[in-house]
Amino acid sequence: MIYENLPVHVGFIMDGNGRWAKKRGLPRKLGHREGAKAFKKCADHCMKLGIKFATFYAFSTENQKRPEDEVEALLKLFDDYLDDIREMDAKNARLRFIGELSFFPDSTREKMLEAENATKNNTGFTCSLALNYGGRDEILHAVKRLVTEGCNLSALNEDTFGDYLYTKGLPDVDLIIRTGGEQRLSNFLIWQAAYAEYYYTDTFFPDFGKRELDKAFEEFAERGRRFGGV
Ligand code: FPP
Repeated sequence: MIYENLPVHVGFIMDGNGRWAKKRGLPRKLGHREGAKAFKKCADHCMKLGIKFATFYAFSTENQKRPEDEVEALLKLFDDYLDDIREMDAKNARLRFIGELSFFPDSTREKMLEAENATKNNTGFTCSLALNYGGRDEILHAVKRLVTEGCNLSALNEDTFGDYLYTKGLPDVDLIIRTGGEQRLSNFLIWQAAYAEYYYTDTFFPDFGKRELDKAFEEFAERGRRFGGV
């Protein structure tokens, strides 16, 4: 495939882990475990193609309502991932965590901070994990900060407002890929996706790999993006 007009920033809504597991008579947590492998493959492929930014929706504010054992299994997956970020560091990748992170145990949050610090000077790729993330929560959080810090209204514009979001410093998302058949945004990057293109597939996330990612990029390359202009 010829890689042209690739997105600068791609977002992933990694849906379908539960159904992937159910289809095989396995517990949902095994679906998430396979989803974690697919996440790594997607991040690797993006890096190989020279894509600069990818953001993965790994746990939404709404996901807290899931059964305790499923939430626990997800938290463990994230925590285990944080135990070995050397590979990302070696690939010149920067890690960021966006969301209401106070939900996580102190020990996990410390690992997140360490990972962010250890990789903060890496310039090849920025991999953001949206954890306990909600777009509405993010905007509300920004507004509360603006009010508390007594913001200068005349200096407030779309760019300066962006500095109050969890995604500060990241460019708007160009392409959002959602696996698992649903066609909705589910509170993901609602400010940053104002002009994003969407790609939906019925494939469950654990089955989503390089080939289908290429298909998404191919389709994206053909979209005419006018950003409201002509
Ligand atoms: C939605 O699918 C997926 C999630 C709530 C979790 C996504 C998490 C991962 C893919 C693991 C990422 C791992 C790391 C280390 C970042 P679902 O379970 O709602 O699927 P369903 O709609 O089929 O039930």
